Amino acid sequence: MAFNEEQFKEILAEFTIGGERLHEIAANFRQDLRLGLRDVTLSSMRMLKSYVGLPSGNEKGDYLALDFGGTNIRVFRIRLEGGGKYEIIKRVGRPLIVPGEYNYISKDATAEQMFDFIAELVDEVIDGDHQTKYYLGHTFSFPSTQDNIYNARLIIWTKEFATQGVEGEIANDLLVAALKRRGAGNVEPVAVLNDTVAVLLSAAYKTPDTFIGSIYATGHNTCYLEPSIHDPNGFGEGGMILNLECGNFSKLAPNRFDKEYDEGSEKPGEQRFEKMVSGRYMGELFGMAIAELLGEKGKQYNLTSVDMSMIMLDDSEKLTKASDIIMAKVGRELDFDDVAKVKKLAETIVIRSARLVAASFVALVWQRAGKGKIVKQHVAVDGSVYEKMPHAKENITKALSELLGEDAANVDTILDNGGSGLGAAIAAAMAKSN
Ligand code: GLC
Repeated sequence: MAFNEEQFKEILAEFTIGGERLHEIAANFRQDLRLGLRDVTLSSMRMLKSYVGLPSGNEKGDYLALDFGGTNIRVFRIRLEGGGKYEIIKRVGRPLIVPGEYNYISKDATAEQMFDFIAELVDEVIDGDHQTKYYLGHTFSFPSTQDNIYNARLIIWTKEFATQGVEGEIANDLLVAALKRRGAGNVEPVAVLNDTVAVLLSAAYKTPDTFIGSIYATGHNTCYLEPSIHDPNGFGEGGMILNLECGNFSKLAPNRFDKEYDEGSEKPGEQRFEKMVSGRYMGELFGMAIAELLGEKGKQYNLTSVDMSMIMLDDSEKLTKASDIIMAKVGRELDFDDVAKVKKLAETIVIRSARLVAASFVALVWQRAGKGKIVKQHVAVDGSVYEKMPHAKENITKALSELLGEDAANVDTILDNGGSGLGAAIAAAMAKSN
């Protein structure tokens, strides 16, 4: 069965965002931001204060860094040398789930079990030394509120975490208790931060003129340095970094696939932007559209963004690899023309995602510039979609120039790989600086 040409064109059109619409979305994002700065309840984003501004680049000393934001926990011992230089002295990492062995993120696991496991990794990175004093920065990438650099309290688990006894608690307090149980009370957590904030700190430490940090991966979120906020409980320069939790931004134009996916999701109405752009969801939208083209609407194929990526990377004459993936996941042998259409559909979904992400960056660039000029600056991004997904990065760049015109020459995106660890060490150093 060949795809219906008309239906295919219509679906592509539904996943296409033209220049004018994109401009509107960027303007809506900025408007939402401005509302939130006035009164956070007016914004669809949480706009959480981080209690840090930018580092000077001269932070020095040995710090521990804990990266806790997904199923892999990583702990580092990092030496900050100042002048934007650093050295990773030791690193350990282990997953929170090993199927059949243990699972610290299920609803059967307790906070004590989870944090005891983390404390064990911290102990490994300090080689069981329970004498030396260590300061630790903690990248905790879940929506949390805080009123100083230490006390982030988990609002709600995201990313399918369900461990009991953590929601509503201060993550660092749970860590301190676990470290004490282990006899490692000499490790003192002094800072906590979201992964977006860590990426921004890490990039700004090495590259001046970086004011926006973003994660574009399984999840999507962005932070930026807001110059107008100064708080006695904050550290660093230039104002305060706000973790937007913009995955929850909702003033955009979802198509019927987005709406249908959201309605059937675990948390309908939540994380609407993230559900249109991030790696966790692109494969779902892709599968829904293919099901419709095959006349089996509603069928689930378990297609992922990695499948999309592999289909798009197939440049062979016969699209054999793409065809094999479709066969394996969808269970149909498609003719060449339809495989090419599936590839085009994947591209269209990724391009939409990249353009929407670019529109949110532009809103932040506008916000920072106010009525003044758009200064030369970098937007630091980490994450697998940005780094590896075909068409993502170049379409961000294209959309930036579409939206910013001549000013686009002043704005570029840079990859900050692994900023979650380095950023945590920098935050710890900033917290200990006075
Ligand atoms: C989710 C989390 C957010 C995090 C992002 C990327 O959106 O709510 O805190 O920054 O994923 O990991």
